[in-house]
Amino acid sequence: MSYQNPQIAKVAETLKKRLSDKKDASSILRAPELKALYAEIPKLAEDKRAGFGKEINELKKELEQAISLQQEADEVVEPIDITAPFAPNTPVALRPRLLTSDAGSRHPLMTELESVLHIFSRMGFTAIESRQLDDDYNMFSALNFPAGHPARDDYDTFITTEGLIAPAHTSTMQHRVLKLYKANLESGEGIRVVIPGRVFRNEDLDARHEHTFYQLEGVYVDKGIHAGHLIATLKAFLSEYYKQDIEVKTQPFYFPFTEPSFEFALSCPFCKKQGCNVCSYSGWIELLGCGMIHPNVLKEAGIDPNLYSGFAWGGGIDRLVMMKYDIEDIRHFEAGKLDFLRQFS
Ligand code: DAH
Repeated sequence: MSYQNPQIAKVAETLKKRLSDKKDASSILRAPELKALYAEIPKLAEDKRAGFGKEINELKKELEQAISLQQEADEVVEPIDITAPFAPNTPVALRPRLLTSDAGSRHPLMTELESVLHIFSRMGFTAIESRQLDDDYNMFSALNFPAGHPARDDYDTFITTEGLIAPAHTSTMQHRVLKLYKANLESGEGIRVVIPGRVFRNEDLDARHEHTFYQLEGVYVDKGIHAGHLIATLKAFLSEYYKQDIEVKTQPFYFPFTEPSFEFALSCPFCKKQGCNVCSYSGWIELLGCGMIHPNVLKEAGIDPNLYSGFAWGGGIDRLVMMKYDIEDIRHFEAGKLDFLRQFS
């Protein structure tokens, strides 16, 4: 905007420059130069006053608009990466050279795990993380595996020289969560916990077996809980996760920590039981192990099995995700192949 009066034009130039230098933007409207212009008005000949006053007002309006534009721009905060291995306020030139964040993407297992946990949290479950090293007591003894019992052989895994165990299942957390939330039972709340974690097994590797994978354990204890609650809970979860009505079936199995124990299968979400390569043309897919928590496991945690009962399940997250996206080989997840991972970015 140009101003006819040279005095106003000069003040306009000074103040706009001050604004663009970002020096004290908010006080520009109170600048002495502007006040001085207003003070000029009564000194002018009467027929000049109106025109002069109008131009000052125009200048004031222009400055107001420029200030609010500048404030809006300042509100767009530059994002910072809080995981960066340097103080986030380090000037760009002094930061270590890193790959730009758009060169990476989230791992599909973590994205899916988040959505699994979100579903369970809406169903009232609290999530607790498992650990990647554990001890014999939590891995076996607390779960009703007597010393030397052959069922221990099903969980052949890696042991450190100090005797610590890389957990072969997330049930290692059962005893801990039962003890941790025992007080809930006395206050009538019940125990509802899901436990995601990384597990390790000494496996012969193939498209369906990997030495490292993820599991999700679930534990539910309250008064009057029975196998119907277990089946309904898992069916509701699966239907929500696969966004379709899923059928489920159970067949008897053996786990030391549950009685009765079941192997749990779901109708193939890919072919809806018509038969396809995901379900090996059977229409059903075995997904996880589950059952009613063994009274000895409740007792070990100080919970009276005559008053309370509960169910537990444990299953592979990798397998759940493989079925969702028709991923043919479990080893893709840990292989670090970018062409696989980029499909999920
Ligand atoms: N821990 C079993 C496995 O990894 C799965 C499992 C079965 C977990 C039954 C449970 C359960 O909590 O009740 O093979």
